[in-house]
Amino acid sequence: MAARHLPATHLAALLGSAADSSPAYQAIADGLRLLIADGRILYGTRLPSERELTAALGVSRTTVARSYAELRDRGYLSSRRGSGSVATLPGGPQPPTSNVLMPSGQDTSFIDLTCAAPAAPPGTAQAYADALDELPAYLAGSGYYPTGLPVLREALAERFAERGLPTDPDQIIVTTGALAGVAIAARTLTGVADRVLVETPTYPNSIAALRRSGARLVGVPVEPSGPDPDVLDGALRRTRATAALLIPDFHNPTGALMPDHIRARVARSLQDAGTTAIVDETMVELGLGDAGHAAPMATFASNTLTVGTASKSFWGGLRIGWLRAPHDRVGAVTEARLSLDLGAPVLEQLVLVHLLRQREALLAARRQQLTASRAALAAALADQLPDWRFALPAGGLALWCELPEPLSSALAAAAERHGVLLASGPRFSVEGGLERFIRLPYTLEPDTLREAVGAIAVAWSEARRRRSATSRRRPWVA
Ligand SMILES: Cc1ncc(COP(=O)(O)O)c(C=O)c1O
Repeated sequence: MAARHLPATHLAALLGSAADSSPAYQAIADGLRLLIADGRILYGTRLPSERELTAALGVSRTTVARSYAELRDRGYLSSRRGSGSVATLPGGPQPPTSNVLMPSGQDTSFIDLTCAAPAAPPGTAQAYADALDELPAYLAGSGYYPTGLPVLREALAERFAERGLPTDPDQIIVTTGALAGVAIAARTLTGVADRVLVETPTYPNSIAALRRSGARLVGVPVEPSGPDPDVLDGALRRTRATAALLIPDFHNPTGALMPDHIRARVARSLQDAGTTAIVDETMVELGLGDAGHAAPMATFASNTLTVGTASKSFWGGLRIGWLRAPHDRVGAVTEARLSLDLGAPVLEQLVLVHLLRQREALLAARRQQLTASRAALAAALADQLPDWRFALPAGGLALWCELPEPLSSALAAAAERHGVLLASGPRFSVEGGLERFIRLPYTLEPDTLREAVGAIAVAWSEARRRRSATSRRRPWVA
């Protein structure tokens, strides 16, 4: 595979105002080092030539040459005649971290912020009771519904149609959640060693699911504001990936919503590269405030496999999700599904039918509760950790916070000692890095979040103190 190439204009945008500080060569070198260490420029990416970067930054050639020399000295750049300058890491590529997030279930000795999942809405027990009343009608059959109960497939197809994507119930395959949907989509589309393009950061367990399917993952760095269509297009052209996993609706972890005009561009790039999108719509119903809505990605790229779930809109305990496929792929998706499991539980599918009937009211309450928790978390952070940076996301369940120092893993370890479980930035990364980021979900009650931030602030000072003690003893540690 050809090396990734980072255009000079894109690098200049990533560096932002870094080049304006003095001395400029040092500021550029520091900015680049952080981008590489954070995984926002991926290991092995070919950087622009000195001449190209000089023009893009409007600085002198000597300045850029000195920056590159400094990075080479510190192990962040390798330059070879003929192949240009390539991003590296001191010690080589980082071994892949285990990505999976494991919800802690009933363990109440910690505040668990690794899991972005709300409690069941009021009325869930009643929905179970109503579903139980309907169950006898199903008991005479085998109970196997490999594509799902017809009544649920109809309700889900209707919801897609309401969102502007006409859908036949036959196009819906009910799954045991969105993660299962991603795994089924990967099995449908890819074989061993096929390339799958994945946004980085992205939802950790999907990274693990795709890796286990044998696919070769290609990370595309996405900014907290969402993917840059030029960067995505470049990656698709270069890799001709078989599939691309995208979360355009309130991305996990950044919360970004991809606007319609970018969806249209991304759809063209996918088509040109012959790549099929697996679109994870887990958060699609969780727009907050006046976030607005975008049309489903499958209205732009009709061969998309769209994955959805009841886990975040309603309750994770249902373990019900779905996959929407174009007609000509339903057979292949069903076959892939049958190699994993034979269907989803009948009772929970009936429960979801009841919850969907009250969708508007339940979601309005959920959005209200999330908005309050988001405000409490943001206020506690502004108060206790004022040098952390984050943008209030348009929707979804978490803040993606940028730390002033790349200490995310150290922070997670320290926070655990103070009773808070955190998912560090590198968990969300396909190829390492993201030590400068941490995801903080706002699915818990405001008071619990305030308490968690208090403990995180203590853990943060501890992680910083340890770091400065280490760098006094070992000043070469960056
Ligand atoms: C983007 C995304 N995809 C998939 C999942 C897993 O969802 P499910 O519980 O439906 O398997 C999550 C859960 O957090 C998620 O955020």
